[in-house]
Amino acid sequence: MTKHDDEHAELDRMHHDIVAPKYDELIVDPRQTLNDVIFKRVAKRLPARGRSMLDLGAGTGHMAIRFGRGYDRVMLVDHSRGMLEQARRNTAGVKSDLRFEVTDALGFVGKCDDRFDLITCVGFLHHLRADQLQFVFSNLMRLLEPDGRILLAEPVATPRTEPKAIQWWNRTSLPKFEQYVQLAPMPDEAPLNLQLLKDVYAEFGFATAYERRGWEVFSHFGGSSIDKLVIPVLDFLFGAEGVVWVGLLEKTVKPSGGPQSFLQT
Ligand SMILES: C[S@@+](CC[C@H](N)C(=O)[O-])C[C@H]1O[C@@H](n2cnc3c(N)ncnc32)[C@H](O)[C@@H]1O
Repeated sequence: MTKHDDEHAELDRMHHDIVAPKYDELIVDPRQTLNDVIFKRVAKRLPARGRSMLDLGAGTGHMAIRFGRGYDRVMLVDHSRGMLEQARRNTAGVKSDLRFEVTDALGFVGKCDDRFDLITCVGFLHHLRADQLQFVFSNLMRLLEPDGRILLAEPVATPRTEPKAIQWWNRTSLPKFEQYVQLAPMPDEAPLNLQLLKDVYAEFGFATAYERRGWEVFSHFGGSSIDKLVIPVLDFLFGAEGVVWVGLLEKTVKPSGGPQSFLQT
């Protein structure tokens, strides 16, 4: 790791430790209805049951809450202790064997020798440089079972501006976001270059089994039935070139052995 990586990761970890108690209220809850729409489509493409799931950059555990029940063992990895403490509380009703690892995700994938049927990375990969993405995917090839799936959801760069209808709909959620950015210094981050991400995972033998894009459409009526009616329609009408990309990956090639290192030191 370079000094820059250390500083970036440390700022990110401190940020998430501070925001953890408010993260669900300000970030997860406003997206819940849209996430229900998006991940329902993904769930249809996952095996009904599996032995093990790994969630990298697990945050407050909403992937484990959504999908963990289908897996005997679920490993949640995050460098923020505060986020994982929140995840522990949030997942109390999930009856799988849950493990919580407070550690750097890159270090984790480099050393881990378990195998997983489902690996999720949601809102985590856009923190990484190209060489770090290569390091992660070279190791995920080893960690994923041959018929396993990787679920990604990340902000990606788009030339489009947010459609006016969505700006109008989202206006009541802006105060929550403003509250969020004032909680702690924001880590330096930008949306991912989607083509770069696709090139990296293709290089390491993964193919896109399913993908979709959309805008962030926040709950306007607290997730009520009006939100449940309107949000899928807005998503359907305007989503095509949106800022959020969701992808489900599968292996095209068999693993070739041990971990590879592309990290600059
Ligand atoms: C945007 S949050 C997303 C959390 C969760 N996946 C979700 O969708 O709500 C990103 C998470 O990744 C974690 N994270 C970022 N970089 C990390 C790293 N290098 N190692 C471990 N966790 C990391 C942060 O602490 C944070 O909890």
